[in-house]
Amino acid sequence: MIILGIESSCDETAISIIKDSKLLANVVSSQIDVHKKYGGVMPEIASRLHLENIGFVLKKALEDANIKIEDIDAVAVTRGPGLIGALHVGLQAAKTISLMYNKPLIPVHHLIGHIYANEFIENFEFPMLCIVVSGGNTEFVIMEKDLDFKIIGQTLDDAVGECFDKVARVLGLPYPGGVEIDKLAKLGTHKYLFKSPHADGYNFSYSGLKTSIINEVNKLKMRKEDYKIEDIAKSFQDVAIDVIVEKAKKACKEYNVKMLCLAGGVSANSYLRSEMEKAFKNSDIKLLLPPLWCTTDNAAMICKAAEHLYKEKIFADLSLGVDPNWQIEDFKDFKNN
Ligand code: KG4
Repeated sequence: MIILGIESSCDETAISIIKDSKLLANVVSSQIDVHKKYGGVMPEIASRLHLENIGFVLKKALEDANIKIEDIDAVAVTRGPGLIGALHVGLQAAKTISLMYNKPLIPVHHLIGHIYANEFIENFEFPMLCIVVSGGNTEFVIMEKDLDFKIIGQTLDDAVGECFDKVARVLGLPYPGGVEIDKLAKLGTHKYLFKSPHADGYNFSYSGLKTSIINEVNKLKMRKEDYKIEDIAKSFQDVAIDVIVEKAKKACKEYNVKMLCLAGGVSANSYLRSEMEKAFKNSDIKLLLPPLWCTTDNAAMICKAAEHLYKEKIFADLSLGVDPNWQIEDFKDFKNN
């Protein structure tokens, strides 16, 4: 079975081709250098660049896989969540391929893709806890079986990645800020006491942490005190991440978890990865850390999720629209249609 997957939810135009779980092509055209100039992703520019790039990305993927487009068995596409205009580019390309070559159209949830990226390392064992940490989401998701998602906790305001990006901006660092903070924190000392993002149960609240850093930096500047941004980065990163690790330990016990995975852009964070490894080193729970290339947007993960959706015959017709705010739990409604 050959699936062609398309991902265009944010600032990467990506197309991959998978054959019986083996990746034949994985092409990613990143727009990051363009958006960097603006300090963040500009939605209108993102849509235009997807339109410009999607043709050659498709051509390159077919060449790399050494197949003809008619050889595919299905076309899968991210239909949300993401930027509305950006999502539409991928969806229209997928619908065109589906119509022209009479292939089933598979709608994929972006975060389900990030979760299934972990299957490039190992097959899943259930119950499984998925910690989805990205620029738009901070969610603890329990899977009792394939394609079954229950949110047990989430952020009540800002996402953890958004918080990394905003703090980076306050510190004068370029976009995407998470990578820069990760690097600087390695050189810093935990000197400052910032507000913990802890909230009830498995929930989080990152907006207070962001404000406490803005206040501290303003105070230091007003008083003309010397400070090292490395120390602020380290003090911030510790509180931003430690709470995730602590809640993960609790959730694993409560839900009898056999396997645990990280997913999304922030899962590239070196401190989060090492703290999770430390926390679960001597336990029976298997920890999956996605390969670094899978923590940024790509279509290989869309293909991986699509293999499961294909088996369940979860197909859409040509009336399929994008859903910029598609919740992972609402995926069930789509499944039952
Ligand atoms: O949201 P995301 O998964 O990408 C999209 O779906 O578009 O990942 C982007 C987020 C950004 O907030 C970025 O700052 C963060 O992931 N990020 C990191 C690191 N690398 C990327 N945050 C912390 N540490 C990192 N090493």
